[in-house]
Amino acid sequence: MKTKILMVCLGNICRSPLAEGILKNKVDPTTTFVDSAGTAGYHIGNAPDPRSIAVAKKYGIDISKQVCRKFTVQDFEEFTNIYVMDNSNYNNVVALAQNQEQKNKVSLLLEHTNTSTTEVPDPYYGGDQGFENVHNLIDQACNNIAKTLKDQ
Ligand code: 4NP
Repeated sequence: MKTKILMVCLGNICRSPLAEGILKNKVDPTTTFVDSAGTAGYHIGNAPDPRSIAVAKKYGIDISKQVCRKFTVQDFEEFTNIYVMDNSNYNNVVALAQNQEQKNKVSLLLEHTNTSTTEVPDPYYGGDQGFENVHNLIDQACNNIAKTLKDQ
């Protein structure tokens, strides 16, 4: 069965588009599908934030063609794993789950790292250093997730 991974943040313009691009770049697209969504609908239809596009580009990844969408309850059926960036995203997504099986699909992205940091900070109101930090945190988690997928 194809593994289908959904990266979720609040706006789907800063963190989760970056997470989608970074993980896609590490997995076999024939066995793993990766997408992203936001719990809020402020930016539906928009491209990722220019600062996310820039930090992805710095690491050789093009996320500029991604289009922002909102998380929906159908995503619980569609996806096998839902990785959220922070506790607020976790609460928002789990609140929409209809049963325990759906809740079990949701985890904090940074639970998949060895670091003590559990949340990918929201960089929207910060500077570029925030995006570099966000990239590095997401990249560590995606290395571990990609390795686990490869070992399966
Ligand atoms: P994201 O960042 O959740 O990482 O995409 C944000 C983007 C936009 C807003 C908040 C967070 N906003 O309030 O518009």
